[in-house]
Amino acid sequence: MSPKRTSLTLLSSIIVGLLSTQLIFQYPPCLKCLLNLDLLTPSFFPYLISFCTQKPDHHHHHKYPKSNTTICDDFPPGFPPPDTNTTSILCVDRNGCCNFTTVQSAVDAVGNFSQKRTVIWINKGIYYEKVTIPRTKSSITFQGQGLYSTAIAWNDTANSAHGTFNSASVSTFGTNFIAKNISFINVAPIPSPGDVGAQAVAIRVGGDQSAFWGCGFFGAQDTLHDDRGRHYFKECYIQGSIDFIFGDARSLYESCEMISIASPVPAGLKVINGAVTAHGRASGDENTGFSFVNCTIGGTGRIWLGRAWRPYSRVVFINTFMTDIISPEGWNDFNDPARDQTLFYGEYKCSGPGANQSMRAPYVQKLSDAQALPFLNASYIDGDQWLQPFN
Ligand SMILES: *[C@@H]1O[C@H](CO)[C@@H](O)[C@H](O)[C@H]1NC(C)=O
Ligand SMILES: *[C@@H]1O[C@H](CO)[C@@H](O)[C@H](O)[C@H]1NC(C)=O
Ligand SMILES: *[C@@H]1O[C@H](CO)[C@@H](O)[C@H](O)[C@H]1NC(C)=O
Ligand SMILES: *[C@@H]1O[C@H](CO)[C@@H](O)[C@H](O)[C@H]1NC(C)=O
Ligand SMILES: *[C@@H]1O[C@H](CO)[C@@H](O)[C@H](O)[C@H]1NC(C)=O
Ligand SMILES: *[C@@H]1O[C@H](CO)[C@@H](O)[C@H](O)[C@H]1NC(C)=O
Ligand SMILES: *[C@@H]1O[C@H](CO)[C@@H](O)[C@H](O)[C@H]1NC(C)=O
Ligand SMILES: *[C@@H]1O[C@H](CO)[C@@H](O)[C@H](O)[C@H]1NC(C)=O
Ligand SMILES: *[C@@H]1O[C@H](CO)[C@@H](O)[C@H](O)[C@H]1NC(C)=O
Repeated sequence: MSPKRTSLTLLSSIIVGLLSTQLIFQYPPCLKCLLNLDLLTPSFFPYLISFCTQKPDHHHHHKYPKSNTTICDDFPPGFPPPDTNTTSILCVDRNGCCNFTTVQSAVDAVGNFSQKRTVIWINKGIYYEKVTIPRTKSSITFQGQGLYSTAIAWNDTANSAHGTFNSASVSTFGTNFIAKNISFINVAPIPSPGDVGAQAVAIRVGGDQSAFWGCGFFGAQDTLHDDRGRHYFKECYIQGSIDFIFGDARSLYESCEMISIASPVPAGLKVINGAVTAHGRASGDENTGFSFVNCTIGGTGRIWLGRAWRPYSRVVFINTFMTDIISPEGWNDFNDPARDQTLFYGEYKCSGPGANQSMRAPYVQKLSDAQALPFLNASYIDGDQWLQPFN
């Protein structure tokens, strides 16, 4: 069976299963989710399953919306707790059980230039909205309930939003932004080969000193715009096809999982149909780059580890497991041989069939211990100056 046929069969069985549980009628996001044809790809199945089998109201069999007293059972009395000298907590729940029903309305309520950290606690559910955290709002935390439980999703593309950079479902420009246990999704249609303007960013991280813990990033082309500043990603799940982590930030990705959803390539064909990274370092004076440590790369397609979006593109993979979806040459200079002199692509102690160095492009560096050292831990992003532990 073709992959498409397999997905449709699988999907129909999921839908039939869900209809039989009646859950989708009690929990509208599921219905909305299932009716959104753009989500009908294997990559979104975890979402369909997760969102349609979890519901805000665990014990009752009444139709949604039920009375406020049962739907809001999750909230203990006194939640959210009052402000302290250093932190305020705002609560978002799509059923209206606490302060706000949209994430943006909570962000809007945060004071400009506030000195405190504001934790925006976001209940389970998919929040269909485009969210922006402006430069004037620093130290905001998005606390979700798990990367398969809380998500913010929108569907702009480069075409609909007048440019890739504006297509993000969520854009953060404030410094010290933190996200925990939440997913960022762009549900625009997955581009077909040759489509123009189909780039669809899930999040644009445009502020300095931002950290992501246990987060999901779902999209196809240009999923994660790791735009500028120093950023940390730990135990995140990042899905995409073409250039799915791109931008000019200085970032450490620790224990993350990168999953390609590029189309499977039949054996014997030499097509390359994606790239994990497209780092955009434009000059030798910039100290930016992406470092991946203890990560895994899998999924479908035949893809590059990176391609040189700009001439001084800098990316290293360290102790990372790669399946055979990585093309033997590994990397691409954007078909501009001049960039071979300026880009910096390194691999160190990687494993798996995709990590075989024997056919790598000539400019790829097999890093020595000394070359790898600056990229190995959070010192790479000056973490000692700003990165706080998870708790
Ligand atoms: C539930 O809704 C009723 C009627 O709208 C209201 O009077 C009551 O205060 C609400 N209870 C809670 C706990 O919010
Ligand atoms: C919080 O601020 C108030 C007023 O400035 C001060 O009296 C109080 O001691 C502070 N509490 C803590 C825990 O720092
Ligand atoms: C959020 O809700 C809590 C509890 O009802 C309340 O004390 C607090 O003032 C609310 N905050 C905002 C910004 O509305
Ligand atoms: C923050 O500043 C913007 C732009 O000046 C203004 O529109 C907004 O009302 C301010 N927000 C708050 C919460 O003060
Ligand atoms: C986003 O979804 C809306 C509502 O389903 C639809 O009208 C719109 O065309 C979609 N936009 C894109 C770029 O696909
Ligand atoms: C939140 O993320 C952390 C860091 O990845 C993880 O250890 C924890 O289990 C996650 N919690 C939930 C509820 O998903
Ligand atoms: C690496 O690839 C070369 C050429 O395809 C092959 O001969 C070699 O056995 C491979 N090495 C490993 C460890 O798989
Ligand atoms: C990567 O894994 C190694 C061994 O598994 C561990 O010693 C090291 O601290 C990890 N590095 C990071 C940055 O998590
Ligand atoms: C990173 O590793 C270096 C060299 O081993 C060490 O000096 C530094 O303290 C480490 N930094 C962090 C943030 O762990």
